[in-house]
Amino acid sequence: MIKTYIWSLFTRLFHILLIIAVCAIFLIAEFENLLDYHAIVGYTIGLLLLFRIAWGFLDVKHSKFKDFNFNIEDLKEYLLNIFGNKKEYAGHNPASSWAIIAMIILGLASVISGVVVFGTQEGMGILSFLNTSRYKDMDFFEDMHEFFTNAFMFVIFIHIAGALLDRFLHNSKAVESMIYGYKEGDGKSVKLTRFQQLFGVLWIGSALFLFTYLLLTPSNILIKDSNKAVDYRAEHEQFYKECISCHTLYPPYLLPKESWVKMMDNLESHFGDDASLDEADKNSIKDYLVKNSAQTSTKESAQKILKSIKNSDTIAVTKTAYWQNKHDVIDKSIFKSKKVGNISNCKACHKNIERGLLNDRDIQIAKGV
Ligand code: HEC
Ligand code: HEC
Repeated sequence: MIKTYIWSLFTRLFHILLIIAVCAIFLIAEFENLLDYHAIVGYTIGLLLLFRIAWGFLDVKHSKFKDFNFNIEDLKEYLLNIFGNKKEYAGHNPASSWAIIAMIILGLASVISGVVVFGTQEGMGILSFLNTSRYKDMDFFEDMHEFFTNAFMFVIFIHIAGALLDRFLHNSKAVESMIYGYKEGDGKSVKLTRFQQLFGVLWIGSALFLFTYLLLTPSNILIKDSNKAVDYRAEHEQFYKECISCHTLYPPYLLPKESWVKMMDNLESHFGDDASLDEADKNSIKDYLVKNSAQTSTKESAQKILKSIKNSDTIAVTKTAYWQNKHDVIDKSIFKSKKVGNISNCKACHKNIERGLLNDRDIQIAKGV
């Protein structure tokens, strides 16, 4: 049997690294507190894809975009005969040619929109400044990111289905070729020039380097957190002392100013407790809360709580639909457990909430429960 060398080591390494990274990123996306890792893998995918684009313009047999089969007639014929007899293509078949281009574009769009959401919504990463200027659009960018990642996943799914169909229905060796590099038949083998080899080493090497570097340097500009911790005791001593004495110190940005006014004017009957203060302290704390209320914050939780409260006059964060949706995923028994005790013991799970930080990565569902 004559074999032809189709996929160079670098094309194959790229393919397998991309598979690993994409599986990892979709798994990690399920866990809010792994957001940093989600971003790290995202940047790595971005770099892998950028190099793949450049690779497509080098003169590498079968891997260059010029050798892709974009002919619509061929695609039609390929799809119409999907369950029938099919010929083996030396390089990419017409369907995978289109799928690869779609995956590169949607993958990059996912990465870029991801970096924008990371910046607008979380105040993190290279676009963290967008959290102050464009925070009002955070939902829009989040929707975009979701759209691109879903579309990306959809094309990946089709691509895998096609490959499996080829493998098991037509006994094609396309899947194996992406692992070992060879296809059967008498085609033109790929042979890399010195420059292309150097480029390949740079490609794979820089992706692995970026990944490791980001893991080891959390303060790196690509993932760094620009949310500043607040020292509430230094900012307003009475607020700190009074409002931390019975429960978690709620950051003022978690409620709109109307709620704070209403709460502060009714401290005698505060959720069944008497939390009353003398007039001067009350007014001073009220002013501080109003000055730092949700309306003045660019944080995701502040914006979402504002939207969720609308015109209702609730004074409980935990009564908002936003809070309830977010915590729906948590088993009720966890809130009652020894470590947590009750739902308003926010700090059991949000370790830096009393310093004004509600970062995803700080979420710890109280360990041991
Ligand atoms: C005497 C005890 C006491 C003091 C002092 C107190 N609170 Fe409370 N607070 C409670 C109780 C009890 C609840 C009901 C929830 C719970 O069981 O923790 C509550 C609930 C809240 C909630 C709603 C929590 C939710 O479920 O969303 C907010 C917000 C709040 N308090 C803010 C404040 C602020 C601001 C101060 C300072 C001015 C303050 N509290 C002082 C006892 C107190
Ligand atoms: C038992 C643990 C636990 C307790 C107690 C808890 N939370 Fe959470 N909280 C979580 C988890 C887990 C998430 C992430 C849920 C998800 O995956 O969407 C979350 C998400 C949030 C978010 C959204 C953050 C974001 O950026 O997406 C806010 C805001 C929040 N919690 C506020 C609070 C407040 C305020 C309290 C106290 C009244 C509280 N939480 C109590 C576990 C807890």
